[in-house]
Amino acid sequence: MALPLERTVHAQVSATRLPASKFPAPFTVPFKVPPVAVPAYRGLHTDYYDMTMRSTTKEILPGFKTEVWTYNGYFPGPTINNYRGRPAVVRHVNALPAKHPRLGYDATTSVHLHGSDSLPQYDGYASDITWPGQYKDYHYPNDQDARTLWYHDHASHHTAENAYMGLAAMYILHDDVEMATTLPKGRYDVPLVIRDAAFDTNGQLLFDDPEHKGIFGDVILVNGSPWPVMKVERRKYRFRILNASVSRGFKFALSTGDPFTFVGTDGGLMPRTQQVTSFRQGTAERYEVVIDFAKYKIGQRIVLKNLGVKNIVNYPTTGNVMAFDVTSNSTDPTNNTVPAVLYPAESAMMLTEAMATKTRRFEFIRSHGHWTINGKDWQDVIDSGFQMVLADPNLNDIEIWEFVNDSGGWWHPVHIHLVDFKILDRNGKPPNPWELGGKDVVFVGENETVRLVMKFGPHTGRYMIHCHNLVHEDHDMMSQFRVDPPHDYDDPIYADAAR
Ligand code: C2O
Ligand code: CU
Repeated sequence: MALPLERTVHAQVSATRLPASKFPAPFTVPFKVPPVAVPAYRGLHTDYYDMTMRSTTKEILPGFKTEVWTYNGYFPGPTINNYRGRPAVVRHVNALPAKHPRLGYDATTSVHLHGSDSLPQYDGYASDITWPGQYKDYHYPNDQDARTLWYHDHASHHTAENAYMGLAAMYILHDDVEMATTLPKGRYDVPLVIRDAAFDTNGQLLFDDPEHKGIFGDVILVNGSPWPVMKVERRKYRFRILNASVSRGFKFALSTGDPFTFVGTDGGLMPRTQQVTSFRQGTAERYEVVIDFAKYKIGQRIVLKNLGVKNIVNYPTTGNVMAFDVTSNSTDPTNNTVPAVLYPAESAMMLTEAMATKTRRFEFIRSHGHWTINGKDWQDVIDSGFQMVLADPNLNDIEIWEFVNDSGGWWHPVHIHLVDFKILDRNGKPPNPWELGGKDVVFVGENETVRLVMKFGPHTGRYMIHCHNLVHEDHDMMSQFRVDPPHDYDDPIYADAAR
């Protein structure tokens, strides 16, 4: 099978953007929740899902038919709901057109379940691609604490374009600990897949990225709808917020100035809930917040705002994300409360600096027009026959990884596959209150040094580490580390462990 080996992929740059006068007025499009995927077969121990990646058209902006790439025809894809201890197998069929309609590249795919401690062969490794007409079965252990995950495309050098076309969706893992809490559940536990998008004058998604630096759309989509309005009851809701943008970071706040109550991060429930009035969310980060609408009056509108995250270039947005209209008293008698302390079983928050046996340093740098980690990029990994690694911890080792960003004006949301980590500090200062939970993506701002502590497991093998600004990832700020068996390969006693 041929691998995509090109070092540079040219993106579309020339089309004109659709003028804002063609956008719907904010809060006129109704809010919707992505459908929940139904297993094709429920086995004794495992659920089996069939997913087909295919192209379809959607009316995202009123009056325009936009081509999108979907999982099973949905934009974003259907939410997969699972319970801890019950594995899932997802068959991902690539039924996309052979080439991208405007960018012309081969529509290869690889599916990553972001937040899962999957085995390497099911982790959506960038070069483990599926061609149009092929499929791959992905086995997911679902053996972690309850958490908000997401699945999205991860194909080598085309992740940004594929995800931008729509190949992204939520995956929620529940467990007994979470279900025993008094947090809002069921229809009061609501996914918010938030991303930006740019459109050309034909209403097609415009991949506007002249310099491989980032895509910044002027339309904000929540669960696929532009600036939607959601009707809410006077009660508490739990929102699982995913920033599924290719590049854009958000700084969220409520128009009332009231706080969000933070209950979860990438790695699931936070040990302690936090009150926060505004927070920064980079791409791929997940935060779970509770908003209490009981204190508002029927008829009141609360707007979720984006105060913006500063970047080297100022890209416009209206500052609106979505609105909540309080329309009734609660029809559900459950009196949800948010405890100050939650009890996740295995949070990375239990790790301490003193447990670590090693510190490694990673620099996120732009060099010769490429985004690199310690001067290396994904092409270097390909050129090494996938042998080059940036780190080689042993199974169950606990290490501190120090991320350094002095790449002039850009921030990098850095994702480490396989593990959850705890953020120790940022430029020597404590992490933000909303980051006090297990994480797998960390916002590394301009001139920031962030230190993380993590434990490597439960699997050995090679896993990716990359910037989750997907344009940076594709060009080519991605590398890999290898988790080795618990003993060194070169010790003759353990020769059997060598692969
Ligand atoms: Cu969400 Cu390696 O990615
Ligand atoms: Cu980056």
